[in-house]
Amino acid sequence: MKNWNARKRIIMSEELLPEHRLTRSLSWPHLIALGVGAIVGTGILTLIGVGADKAGPAVILSFVIAGVICACAALAYAEMATMIPASGSAYTYSYVVIGELVAWIVGWSLILEYSLVVSAVAVGWSGYAAPLLQAWLGVPMALMQGPELGGIINLPAIFIIAVVAGLLMVGTKESATLNAALVVVKILALIVFVIVALPYFNAANLEPFSPYGFGKTMDAGGVERGVMAAAAIIFFAFYGFDAIATAAEETKNPNRDLKFGIVGSMIACVVIYMAVAIAAVGAVHYTEFANSPEPLALILRELGQPGAATYLAASAVIALPTVILAFFYGQSRIFFVMARDGLLPRGLATVSGRGTPVRITIFTAVVVGILAGFIPLADLAALANAGTLTAFMAVALCMLIMRRREPDAPRQFRTPLYWLIGPVAIGGCIYLFISLPQKTQLFFLAAHVVGLVIYLLYGSRRTSPAA
Ligand code: ALA
Repeated sequence: MKNWNARKRIIMSEELLPEHRLTRSLSWPHLIALGVGAIVGTGILTLIGVGADKAGPAVILSFVIAGVICACAALAYAEMATMIPASGSAYTYSYVVIGELVAWIVGWSLILEYSLVVSAVAVGWSGYAAPLLQAWLGVPMALMQGPELGGIINLPAIFIIAVVAGLLMVGTKESATLNAALVVVKILALIVFVIVALPYFNAANLEPFSPYGFGKTMDAGGVERGVMAAAAIIFFAFYGFDAIATAAEETKNPNRDLKFGIVGSMIACVVIYMAVAIAAVGAVHYTEFANSPEPLALILRELGQPGAATYLAASAVIALPTVILAFFYGQSRIFFVMARDGLLPRGLATVSGRGTPVRITIFTAVVVGILAGFIPLADLAALANAGTLTAFMAVALCMLIMRRREPDAPRQFRTPLYWLIGPVAIGGCIYLFISLPQKTQLFFLAAHVVGLVIYLLYGSRRTSPAA
């Protein structure tokens, strides 16, 4: 354990051996597209139904709470990402600012986050794809749903993961350009939803507004409910800008590009979500779409707009892979940087001729594919949130520590009112973590016990943080 509190020096890409270097091919429009592409996804399209089930129409409040906490974390992220523009995001910041053991815990949380987001969004994709595949190709439902919905295996979720893994192995830039086109499809679909659903707004649908109260409570069936229980799940809808930070080493002008990318994509998404959430709970009573695998399409059908419903579902099917792409990309980079640091086997940190880590991509695809095939969406999302909340707390903490330790160091982006934003981000993340389902919290702790054993047996003996 000789290294546990070692801190890593910031290593610029130019200092690395050529085979450990990623190609600088992205600029800020790519990053905003990558950000919006990573943020708008299963959270707004599907988990809005899970949130409504937990909070009733007050899920609107859950959106506001999760959005504010996420925005505070995004500001801290932007500051750290421009100060330390190296791949690895929260993991790298923790390594530089706090020390190796905390970096390992954060890196392990990020691996959990990114893997589970890929699985969760693939399941969300399948929720919108399944009715279309059944109607158009006659695929039986049992092969398109996991066991919790009475199916056998979720094959569409596995299929889409395989497709995205293939895209990533073709090369970063090509994938990012395609991603930008698909982001437009996704945003247009949400705008159409708002335009079609908003005229049906009926204040009676907001009654009772908050049937389960504010704080997390357990109902007789063992389901956690309340505005905060919903916020802890809805939080999923807001993150993704951190996937941009993991691309720092591949941006042409990291300082400018990361700042525009992170803050710009966050603002765009908050505006869109509030519009969609208000249109959804105002148009039909929340009990109609709670827990549906395709709630926004269902709402449009309920309103007698089947054409718009099919358009929305088809757009989701075409565009949701952008979210999978962004998190898959982030995941392989975290693995890559941890392996390059020696915390995971260095053989993993080898890039192919096109600058993409192929081995890690294939390994990740197999693991997240198996999870997506069998585990329910809400469970995957809750666990992904636990990992993300941990990483966000670490980033906000790093930001505050650096303000004290190196107040005059150059910063391309300074968090406004940092003494307020930092603690709100940390306290908010803790409150959301406490509001997650209990089984998620226990599973998360168990995953970290396993992680620490790996660290003690492997990582702590092999690292050389200055290398
Ligand atoms: N924010 C992303 C989504 O909602 C993870 O799909």
